[in-house]
Amino acid sequence: MLVTGGAGFIGANFVHYTIRNHPEYEVRVLDALTYAGDQTTLRPVADRTEFVHGDICDASVVDQLVAEADLVVHFAAESHVDNSLHDPEPFIRSNIIGTYTLLEAVRRHSGRFHHISTDEVFGDLPLDATDKFDEGTPYDPSSPYSASKASSDMLVRAWARSFGVAATLSNCANNYGSYQHVEKFIPRQITNLLVGERPKLYGAGENVREWTHVDDHNAAVHLILSKGRIGETYLIGSGDERSNKEILELILELMGQAPDSYDHVADRPGHDLRYSNDTTKIRTELGWQPKYGDFRAGLAATIDWYRQNEWWWKPQKEATEAKYRVLGR
Ligand code: NAD
Ligand code: DAU
Repeated sequence: MLVTGGAGFIGANFVHYTIRNHPEYEVRVLDALTYAGDQTTLRPVADRTEFVHGDICDASVVDQLVAEADLVVHFAAESHVDNSLHDPEPFIRSNIIGTYTLLEAVRRHSGRFHHISTDEVFGDLPLDATDKFDEGTPYDPSSPYSASKASSDMLVRAWARSFGVAATLSNCANNYGSYQHVEKFIPRQITNLLVGERPKLYGAGENVREWTHVDDHNAAVHLILSKGRIGETYLIGSGDERSNKEILELILELMGQAPDSYDHVADRPGHDLRYSNDTTKIRTELGWQPKYGDFRAGLAATIDWYRQNEWWWKPQKEATEAKYRVLGR
């Protein structure tokens, strides 16, 4: 199994999950170690994985690794919306050209390909609605990040239909858990409190996300690998929708702080209001269901992880906050 982006948050958790639960796989990781990649995350599984430092846009490296793999699970991407608003170029390159490069290699070598994507490709839903995205919802991305992911999804669908590439796709909601970069909402607020900074809420904090534990996401990916239908897309999400303000107040409560001890900062331009996935297809067809039903407990465990693993996140913290200062957030 070739895992692209296996030194990032979800990819590394996927490698850990695979080694724990699917020892039948030999795992090789391809990762460019961008600012978001950290090889130390793979240290606990280093004796069971092979690491290749390389770029998914490098056709010769990709061709050789794909030729040697039975299947490719493709996580590698530029993943942070705020960064894409500041400088879209790496998103176009890694997310679109990188996916194209992988697809061409998979086409040449007749491999199996699973593409990891996001609910952000569908745009957003009104705050006061109860409707959800499903596998047939038309694409309507809002940010350079989501537009680049939408483009990559379209490439995968086209390569499946026109060239017969044995591909599946999944679009998951927001993930949380250990080893998530400190630029993302939940780790940023936890680590701000741990270093004595006030948390930062964009705008009024009314935007809603469907928080899904990273292991539930990765369990769903394994089900798709073993039982998913080729050419199909599966939506993944916990069903647990919460506003950013609600999440922040829960973090403050769990960390023993006053509920109003945070700052409102400038809103994200084009900020998507709400995401919500209808997961009927993956539940009924593949029997997936989230194990981390208790979000409060999952968040408390995540806070504990950041408390105990300062060595992992502290080196990234100052540079990340410096980027946010440039953005005024
Ligand atoms: P991340 O930013 O934590 O990790 C991305 C990894 O990809 C890093 O290790 C980085 O070094 C690597 N990478 C980036 N460009 C590369 C390139 N050109 N060549 C090789 N490696 C490269 O991202 P994440 O949050 O773990 O997201 C992983 C995937 O899941 C992405 O495709 C993302 O769109 C998708 N996704 C993320 C979420 C979420 O909540 N984080 C939700 C749904 C889907
Ligand atoms: O929905 C899936 C997507 O979830 C993935 O495709 C992306 O890769 C992933 O980054 C995530 O995107 P979001 O933009 O939803 O996540 P982020 O952690 O950046 O922000 C979550 C919400 O919190 C969002 O409404 C913006 C807000 N926010 C974020 C930060 C960093 C704040 O209020 N304050 C902050 O400091």
